[in-house]
Amino acid sequence: MTNTVMVEKAKVSKINEVDFDNLPFGSVYSDHMLVCDYKDGKWNAPKIMPYQPLTLDPSAKIFHYGQSIFEGMKAYKDDEGSIWLFRPLENFKRLNKSAKRIAIPELPEEYFMEGLTTLLQLDSDWIPQNPGSSLYVRPFILASGTGFHASPADEYKFIIACAPSGAYFSGKVRVLIEENYSRAANGGVGYAKAGGNYAGQFYPTQLAIDKGYNQVIWTDDNTHEYIEEAGAMNIFVRINDTLITGPTSDRILDGITRKSILDIAEDEGIATEVRKISVTEVVEAAKNGSLKEMFGAGTAAVVSPIAGFGYKETDYDLPELTNSYASLLKKRITDIQYNRAEDKFGWRY
Ligand code: COI
Repeated sequence: MTNTVMVEKAKVSKINEVDFDNLPFGSVYSDHMLVCDYKDGKWNAPKIMPYQPLTLDPSAKIFHYGQSIFEGMKAYKDDEGSIWLFRPLENFKRLNKSAKRIAIPELPEEYFMEGLTTLLQLDSDWIPQNPGSSLYVRPFILASGTGFHASPADEYKFIIACAPSGAYFSGKVRVLIEENYSRAANGGVGYAKAGGNYAGQFYPTQLAIDKGYNQVIWTDDNTHEYIEEAGAMNIFVRINDTLITGPTSDRILDGITRKSILDIAEDEGIATEVRKISVTEVVEAAKNGSLKEMFGAGTAAVVSPIAGFGYKETDYDLPELTNSYASLLKKRITDIQYNRAEDKFGWRY
């Protein structure tokens, strides 16, 4: 592969300003970013430049019609200082799946992969080695083309920005099972990583935060009787010894961590089921003690155990297990991601 990525290096690095022992999630940014412009009907070769604000016309369609999509990835550094990605082609494929649904032109694979790897090599000092930390990588596309006409833009920007990050959640995670609001509907855009999918969750999530929860568990828009996902992560439920997650659909994100966790669980001999999970089943299981665990799975969240949930003004606590599936599966997946164990699935890059 010939390198088509142009690089303009930052004159001064900001790295000494960062406290790598106390990293927040996603709010300090590395020295460089990648920008790739779509103009005159084609994607142009990517450029890497110092991390900087963008200049956009006030009539850019991103501002009016929310035409934007993104991905979430992480770069990991192992004990020897080698850099690893986890299933990056899955992110690339999902970006283009989202692009298609939001009427954004699909991006060529070499611009994504070559741009990403060149950027990570340049900003490799920004990939933390501290336990639990990684470089969160945010590829995204926005409509920079202008006009108030409600139709797709004719210009776009594909950008990759990176943030050395610690854990997404601090402390115990409690969730509220949603009874009224919906995140997605059949035929809609729930499966895409469209910016608007997340904006639509902020208000109901704030109502849940005001009641003492961290996240909402979305239920189906039709009956609110089936658990879907948590917006920032897919959801797994363990009833007795069976690990269950909902099937992907128009409404549920096809999480890369979700499907990796399913593969690892099967490899561990854990009984898994991919099927609809009713709220009634979860509440009954919590009442009769067969609900052993719930956890979220996602790139940012990794595997995040859920300490308890609320539903119809009642709170349910989950037991604290010493040998939980969540801790086993989290160890297996992070050992692969940080190159601490054999990668029998061939996921490391
Ligand atoms: C990720 O897990 O990377 C995501 O994109 C979810 C986001 C809400 C942080």
